[in-house]
Amino acid sequence: MKIKTRLFLLCAALLAWVESFATNSSYLGLMPQPRSVELSGGVFAYNPSQVVVAESWIDDYVSEYLHSGCGRVAIVIKQDGGLRLPAEGYELVVSTEGIVLRGVDRAGVINGFHTLLQLFPAEIYSSSLDSACEIPCLRIVDWPEYSYRGQHLDVARTYSSVEQIKEFVSHIAHHKLNHLHLHLTDDEGWRVEILSHPELTDVAAYRGGDSPIWPIYGAFDQRYGGYYTQSELRELVEYAAQRGVTIVPEIDLPGHSLAIGKVHPEILCPVERDNSASAGYDRRNVWCVSREENYALLEDILVELCDIFPSEYIHIGGDEVDTSLWRDCPHCLALYNQKGMTSRSELHSYFMLRLMDILAKQGRKAAMWNEAAESGLIPHSVRMHGWEGVEECRTVAEAGYKTIVMPGPYFYFDMRQSKEDDGHNWAGVVTTKKCYSVDLSKFGYSSLAKGNVEGFSGAFWSELYVTHKDKYENYLEYQTFPRICALSEVCWLPQQMREWSDFERRLEQHKLRMDSMGVSYRKGEPTSPTGRQITPGLKVTTSLPMSRDNALEKLSAYANDYGYRTKRTCHEGDWILYEFAGTLKKGTTVQLTTGYRHVARGLFPSGVVEVSADGITFTDYAPLNNGSCTIRLNGPTRAIRLRSTRTGNGDSYVFVQYPVIRVE
Ligand code: ACM
Ligand code: ZN
Repeated sequence: MKIKTRLFLLCAALLAWVESFATNSSYLGLMPQPRSVELSGGVFAYNPSQVVVAESWIDDYVSEYLHSGCGRVAIVIKQDGGLRLPAEGYELVVSTEGIVLRGVDRAGVINGFHTLLQLFPAEIYSSSLDSACEIPCLRIVDWPEYSYRGQHLDVARTYSSVEQIKEFVSHIAHHKLNHLHLHLTDDEGWRVEILSHPELTDVAAYRGGDSPIWPIYGAFDQRYGGYYTQSELRELVEYAAQRGVTIVPEIDLPGHSLAIGKVHPEILCPVERDNSASAGYDRRNVWCVSREENYALLEDILVELCDIFPSEYIHIGGDEVDTSLWRDCPHCLALYNQKGMTSRSELHSYFMLRLMDILAKQGRKAAMWNEAAESGLIPHSVRMHGWEGVEECRTVAEAGYKTIVMPGPYFYFDMRQSKEDDGHNWAGVVTTKKCYSVDLSKFGYSSLAKGNVEGFSGAFWSELYVTHKDKYENYLEYQTFPRICALSEVCWLPQQMREWSDFERRLEQHKLRMDSMGVSYRKGEPTSPTGRQITPGLKVTTSLPMSRDNALEKLSAYANDYGYRTKRTCHEGDWILYEFAGTLKKGTTVQLTTGYRHVARGLFPSGVVEVSADGITFTDYAPLNNGSCTIRLNGPTRAIRLRSTRTGNGDSYVFVQYPVIRVE
């Protein structure tokens, strides 16, 4: 090669390198990454005396972050329907002269504003900026890949205050999520005020203590809960709308209705159930399909709900229905025969269709969980929220439903984030990287199915909130961030523009913003317990009948991290005994658990740990807290016994675990 050619190639390579450096916006740490960012060189010098001019409808929100001074106009924020961009798109131009943000519609303006904030120093999220700063000159042209960018929040299992929900809405909005799916009712609570039926919140907004609703998760002795008045909810709707977030309310029907069933037992199928395994606690939680008065009550509820929430869709549940109650109900059976039905899923659809009619009269559409599609009788105007797995989401999308993809193994943020973390585990460990890896093509979605996907959503089921309230600064935020950062980018960018290592780099910078917002995101792996785990000779016995014949032998061999189920709930005086082949030394640490290891359910709701030096005489050592306790032995120990001091835990079983023993 001639020397001239070599020199030319070297120069070209050098130029390309310099150019890529100048145009690589990764260092800005934007989250989610916009589609197109062109850095144009130079900076805009911002100072707080400059004037910000914004459309009047967004002015209040803008001024929460950027005060307008009395100098020259430097930042202009406006809506411009003439922009040739898809819905929700915006163009953001920063020049040495100032900043112009134009959104194609209101949502575009809000999206652009959220990007603009990310160009300022992170302090902008904790205080409105009162010092000068420099912003790189650039042009961003951007719009979202998906129109539904959601996060679900279960406020039924654990009541969150309106202030907490607002804060959460603010955080998700900054990540350009535009829907909050608010799960307002479930077995454990009814949280929305219905003026025509005040008894719903008077009674069913509380559980524990003397409430007819027993806690299944945590805090058994106290009565706890709360509800939202309609005026609080209207204010929340407005607060969210200002940030570009639509609230989709959910009343979970016809299952998950234990709480309302405790107030109005007449809504349930008149079916006798043997409640001896649950110490008499009636766990029927499904509306009777055939009882005509039920639809009048539901109309009262849904009409008020529509009045509070202006969203196009109202979510009416449809998941996890125990249809054996309909099978055993003479009235549901009569309806089944009269209509010539051939499967119980048709009863399910009959119920949902009746609710759809009520919503249609209010000018609203229904959203449902994916099981509702099983009969094939639900029209395609219903939006399906797929939750069980990617396959179930795919099935409803292939069947022609507009679909929100929120599969447990990728987007259920109540799942644990590592094996050592707290959290549910039915959908496995869900890391931020796993959320980010969602790829509909890899999941085998056809182009038809892909076209029906309106977007993605995270879910936060709050069963574990109560039990972890004191352990975490903010359990909701620990569980949802930074997984929501990954979700936001899955929703925002086309698949081919997503790249994990680039996301990871940007996330490190974005953490400064989350710090400034006050988001208690998960900072790293949890600390592991100290000491070495040992498995001395062990014999486990219990007063409770076990569901599996060899369960106690397995537990005695330290087998199965999930434990084994008993055939009934606990009664006062029930015990689980751990006898050791030798003597455990003073200072040994023993972790004792009733219920699931990571979920405070199926446990001894109150009880004590007793220890024995000789295996014969026991002394009280410590109380169980949420079914578990970690003790440090204060003397040689031959046996440990857990004794229940309460009858009933809301479930019809207890989970028995082997003890985890550690020595320094
Ligand atoms: C659900 O998680 N049961 C929708
Ligand atoms: Zn019935």
